[in-house]
Amino acid sequence: MIRLAQVDDVEVLSDIERAADAVFRNEGMETVADGETMPIPELLRYQREGRAWVDTDEVDRPLAYLLLDVIDGSAHIEQVSVHPSHAGRGKGRQLIEVAAEWAKQQGYAVLTLTTFADVPWNAPYYARLGFEIIPSDHITPGLQEIRQHEASAGLDAWPRVVMSRPL
Ligand SMILES: CC(C)(COP(=O)(O)OP(=O)(O)OC[C@H]1O[C@@H](n2cnc3c(N)ncnc32)[C@H](O)[C@@H]1OP(=O)(O)O)[C@@H](O)C(=O)NCCC(=O)NCCS
Repeated sequence: MIRLAQVDDVEVLSDIERAADAVFRNEGMETVADGETMPIPELLRYQREGRAWVDTDEVDRPLAYLLLDVIDGSAHIEQVSVHPSHAGRGKGRQLIEVAAEWAKQQGYAVLTLTTFADVPWNAPYYARLGFEIIPSDHITPGLQEIRQHEASAGLDAWPRVVMSRPL
């Protein structure tokens, strides 16, 4: 079931992020696999602001989550992670659709994200969900800042793109 995250969910989200990122090791992307998970206070901020959704198992334990930001006046997917034990069952897609619907109801016109261009379950997947790559000269300042932050974290060792989808 998809629902808004509660305070008690937050620690599990770090475990999901670590497990989901570990899959990048198979692609030779150790920097991603071994990266720091989002600090708990930061996760709590999304939870408090009502922009963190979880998908849960039969005992209401999160197995996937999505964090939404607002960047340059658009809704922005900061993170979507599905525990590998439940990947490939449409959970990522459903979370993205819930966030898109919420953003649309809030009056946002566009949904954005940054991702790896060549990882099969990243940009090619988002393209199938209706996202298009934003040309580099059309990337707005807040999104450029995110890209700079990602570059300084070593993520630009592999091509990354900014994508958007109209709502
Ligand atoms: C990306 C992610 C959120 C997708 O969640 P999910 O629940 O597995 O997504 P879905 O079941 O909706 O779809 C997975 C898609 O990826 C594709 N996919 C997954 N692994 C793949 C692989 N190794 N090779 C090719 N395609 C792959 C599937 O074919 C599917 O595409 P389709 O639905 O268009 O056929 C999840 O895989 C994940 O958490 N990955 C690790 C963290 C990550 O990359 N987060 C996003 C950073 S921008």
